[in-house]
Amino acid sequence: MDSIRLRSLSRLFLALLLFFVSFGSAVAQGAATAAGEVGSSKNPSEVGVTPGTVAAAAPAAAAGATTADPAAIAAGDALFKGNCAQCHAVNDVVVGPALGGITKRRPMSWIIPWIKNSSKLVASGDDYAVKIYNQYQKQQMPSFQLSDAEITSIVAYITSEEGKTTVPTGIAAGAGATTVVDGTDAANGEASSSMNILLIVLVVVLIVLVVTLVIIANIMKDVLRGRKDLDGRDVEQMEQRFDFSKIYKSTAVRGIVGAVFVLAVLYETIQGAMGVGLTQGYQPTQPIAFSHKLHAGENQINCAYCHTSVYKAKSANIPSPNICMNCHSQIKTESPEIKKIYRAIERKQPIQWVRVHNLPDLAYFNHSQHTQVGGLECQTCHGPIQNMEVVYQYSALTMGWCINCHRETPLNTKGNGYYDNLVKLHDTKNGAVPFTVSSNGGTECSKCHY
Ligand code: HEC
Ligand code: HEC
Ligand code: HEC
Ligand code: HEC
Ligand code: HEC
Ligand code: HEC
Repeated sequence: MDSIRLRSLSRLFLALLLFFVSFGSAVAQGAATAAGEVGSSKNPSEVGVTPGTVAAAAPAAAAGATTADPAAIAAGDALFKGNCAQCHAVNDVVVGPALGGITKRRPMSWIIPWIKNSSKLVASGDDYAVKIYNQYQKQQMPSFQLSDAEITSIVAYITSEEGKTTVPTGIAAGAGATTVVDGTDAANGEASSSMNILLIVLVVVLIVLVVTLVIIANIMKDVLRGRKDLDGRDVEQMEQRFDFSKIYKSTAVRGIVGAVFVLAVLYETIQGAMGVGLTQGYQPTQPIAFSHKLHAGENQINCAYCHTSVYKAKSANIPSPNICMNCHSQIKTESPEIKKIYRAIERKQPIQWVRVHNLPDLAYFNHSQHTQVGGLECQTCHGPIQNMEVVYQYSALTMGWCINCHRETPLNTKGNGYYDNLVKLHDTKNGAVPFTVSSNGGTECSKCHY
């Protein structure tokens, strides 16, 4: 009996060792994936900001102007993303000013009428309104039919986001789609890290179970071996080894493995198919190292100086070398990159710029409709071009992207008599909902498809 006890004790020791090793590696792996998620998360500021700190920070900054309850912030978040995010970010200048700290700059008694109708406030001669209007090149911010409570919740949301550093491509200028994707990313990150912990716990529990069962089985075998009254069949059964080839031959196991494999392949195929034709982020190397950052950013050359037809026509053309020569007949004439322009002109061959944005022929897109009539900024669709050394495709350019924006963007109907009756009709029917591009038929197939 002594030897039996010794053997089972040593097995117990081995089992415990095994358990700690596997537990340790599971924890290490969990930590590594968690770290990976933090690293790859698009918006690092989301990590570690608990709702508690947001709620605590809000009332202090809002100076009592807003309620900081999480429901109001959430409502404000949705309203902000639906109405304001294409022009504003909290901590970055996009089309309009960064809205962080607005409650310190302006009282609510100014903010509310401004959002309801900024042009009225500007027309009334309000000093601040006129100043900011001029500062932003007299761009008219659209009017919003929001209630005072809705505006208060937007402000509460803004206050809660103040000071959080955001990656500019995050909320900036994006269509609704981009913003939503970012939001779910952050949420996914949090959810999956708690899933990881749950998985680790489950794995540990299972290992403990298996180890305990193995120990019990072995102790029982040891006890049985001590007995003399067993016949041959009992012994055979007792000493039976675990047979892997049986598992391998089992149709059930083969079926399950096969099904999992087929599902995995199917999933990959569908994911791949969804990405066909998606070229977001495409950034080809151009034949001349032309930098928008240098020209449109640092030297502040107007976009339309080069893309001459962008406010007038369907297409925003790419400038011919002659336009470059307006300046480069004098500037940097010795630069090898500039000499490429001279060579193109001498050979009477166009510079072979690589096209970045390209909708399929089945879709109709018109720049002047969006830039001139709609008053949209280039950055809304093309992102921070003025910061790009090399242009890349900022937006997805999918049908969903176009439609989302048409659903969310209020139509700029100010001072356009053509719309007066239409807007009146819309307002009497459902005045609570803004008159968007889609209210005007902007989601009808034939508007975008030939
Ligand atoms: C189409 C673009 C656009 C949209 C949409 C937009 N704004 Fe603006 N906003 C601007 C511009 C541009 C200015 C700068 C003033 C001007 O030019 O009229 C501005 C100014 C402001 C200001 C004053 C900022 C300051 O620093 O004094 C506030 C507040 C503001 N917007 C809030 C909002 C809110 C809230 C929403 C959403 C309900 C919104 N805006 C939607 C373009 C926009
Ligand atoms: C000095 C002339 C110049 C100015 C100013 C300029 N661009 Fe460009 N732009 C070019 C040239 C040349 C190309 C083609 C090479 C390239 O893609 O970089 C181009 C390409 C582009 C493209 C990609 C076109 C494609 O192939 O799909 C976009 C989008 C764009 N510009 C937007 C802008 C915006 C927005 C501004 C203003 C903020 C601006 N550009 C200012 C010269 C200019
Ligand atoms: C309105 C004036 C203007 C126009 C138009 C213009 N550029 Fe420039 N470009 C500049 C200035 C200013 C610089 C910076 C020069 C410096 O760094 O001293 C520059 C620099 C450059 C450089 C960097 C040269 C180097 O070696 O540092 C390249 C390449 C260039 N431009 C290409 C172009 C091309 C291609 C076009 C036409 C699509 C163009 N530019 C149109 C003003 C212009
Ligand atoms: C509503 C979104 C939107 C806005 C706003 C917008 N663009 Fe575009 N832009 C596009 C799309 C979509 C394409 C691709 C068009 C195609 O392939 O037919 C494009 C293509 C371009 C191109 C490549 C040439 C062409 O016409 O296909 C240039 C250059 C360009 N845009 C410049 C600008 C400039 C400069 C502005 C601001 C004055 C601007 N865009 C504003 C969506 C927009
Ligand atoms: C950032 C917002 C935004 C995006 C993205 C956008 N649009 Fe628009 N679109 C507008 C606005 C605003 C108008 C209304 C302009 C006006 O008439 O005042 C408009 C109008 C139109 C119209 C005219 C609709 C009418 O009722 O006459 C067409 C066609 C159109 N867009 C096509 C497209 C296509 C195609 C895409 C995608 C490649 C696209 N738009 C992406 C904002 C957007
Ligand atoms: C606001 C503009 C707009 C409207 C409205 C619109 N589409 Fe599209 N559609 C597009 C653009 C842009 C593409 C190309 C996008 C791409 O390649 O992903 C497209 C692509 C498609 C495609 C090709 C399949 C694909 O995903 O590439 C089909 C089919 C289509 N649209 C059908 C429709 C139908 C049916 C309607 C009406 C219910 C409609 N579209 C309304 C802009 C629009």
